[in-house]
Amino acid sequence: MPRRVRPSDIEVGVIGYGGAFNMGRGHLQEMAAAGMTPKAVADTDPRRLEAAAKDFPGIETYPSAAEMLRKSAVSLVAIITPHNTHARLALQCLRAGRHVVVEKPFAITTAECDAMIRAARKGRRLLSTYHNRHWDGCILQAVKRIRSGAIGEVVRVEAHMGSWGRPGDWWRSSKSISGGILYDWGVHLLEYTFQIIDADIVEVSGHFKTGFWAPKTKWKSDTNEDEGFLLVRYAGGAWSTLCISHLDSNPKPGQVEVTGTKGSYVFDYRTYQLITHRGPATVVTKGGNPPSQHAKYYQNVADHLSRGRPLVITAEWARRPVHVLDLTCRSAAAGRALPVKYK
Ligand SMILES: NC(=O)c1ccc[n+]([C@@H]2O[C@H](COP(=O)([O-])OP(=O)(O)OC[C@H]3O[C@@H](n4cnc5c(N)ncnc54)[C@H](O)[C@@H]3O)[C@@H](O)[C@H]2O)c1
Repeated sequence: MPRRVRPSDIEVGVIGYGGAFNMGRGHLQEMAAAGMTPKAVADTDPRRLEAAAKDFPGIETYPSAAEMLRKSAVSLVAIITPHNTHARLALQCLRAGRHVVVEKPFAITTAECDAMIRAARKGRRLLSTYHNRHWDGCILQAVKRIRSGAIGEVVRVEAHMGSWGRPGDWWRSSKSISGGILYDWGVHLLEYTFQIIDADIVEVSGHFKTGFWAPKTKWKSDTNEDEGFLLVRYAGGAWSTLCISHLDSNPKPGQVEVTGTKGSYVFDYRTYQLITHRGPATVVTKGGNPPSQHAKYYQNVADHLSRGRPLVITAEWARRPVHVLDLTCRSAAAGRALPVKYK
C-alpha cells in the first residue's frame, strides 16, 4: 500500500509534453487541481520543454526520462508518449521507485502489461492508466440508465468509429508505434463497453483489412490496418463488437449501440437515444449528455495516495482492453477466435 501523505506533498512530473492535444499541460493542470504539486517535465524535443517552461514558470525540464529520474524528486510520473514507449518508460519509472500513471493504451501487449504490474507490485507503487473517458458524461449516463433496467437485460454492445479517408502522416498511423488502428480510440470504446457489460470475458475474435491505404502514406507497409473489427464473447451470453475504420463511407463519430431485451440505448459523445416499447408502440426519447468529469481521475489518484481510498482505474482494469486488443491481433493472424488469459 502506498505511504499516506498530503496531496500537496505529492510532487508530480510528466514524460512527454506533446503539442498535438497539449496532453502534458492538461495532465499537470488536472494534477494541480487535485492538490498535487507540478514539478518536472521530460521531453526529447527541446521545443516542447520551452513550451512547458512558458506554461509552468520555474518547472524543472529534462531532455530525457533517465535524467529526470536521476535528478528530480518527483514521486508520481505520468507517461504521455507514443504507445510503443509506454511499457519501457513505465518500467524505468517503477524501478526508480516512482508511482506511475500511463496514458492510454496501458501498453500494446498483454506481456508488457504483466511486466509492468509485476514491477509495481514488487516496488509497492501505484500503477494506473489515464482512462479519463471513464468519466465521460455519455457513459456515466448510459451506465446509470442501463443499470436501472431501462432496456432490460443487455444482449450486445456495438461500438463504431470511422470515416472514409487516408490515415494522417503522424505516429498514430504507424502500426509499430501505435499498435494498430484499434489502439487509439479503441481502448476508450472498449472501456465504455466493459462498464456496460459487467461479466467475465471468454474469447476474442479479430479481423483486419490491410493494404488499401498503405501505399499512399509515409509509413508504407508499417501503416495501420485500413479497418479493424473484433468480437468479444462474455460469460452469461452477451457479446460486444468494436469496429474502427478508414474505409467507412457512412461515417460514425464514436457511436455505441446497446441492445437489450426491452429496448436499445444509442449514444455518442454529445447525444443519446433511448428506444423502448409500450405495448405495440415504440417510444423514442432523445437528448444531450451531461458534461464529462475528467478531473475525477486525478482526484481519485490523489485520494488513493494521500488517504488510501480505493483506486478506480487499477492496472488490472487497464490491462483488460489491451489484452482484448492483443488477442484481436493474434486471432486475426490465426484465423480463429482465441480464449482469454485474463477474464
Ligand atoms: N486520454 C485522452 O483523451 C488522450 C488524448 C490524446 C492523446 N492521448 C494519449 O497520449 C499519449 C501521447 O499522445 P499525444 O497526442 O500527446 O502525442 P504527441 O506526439 O503530441 O506528444 C508525444 C510527446 O512525447 C515526446 N516523446 C516521445 N518519446 C519520448 C521519450 N522516450 N521520452 C520523452 N519524451 C518523448 C515527443 O517529443 C512528444 O512531445 C498517447 O498515449 C495518446 O494515446 C490520450
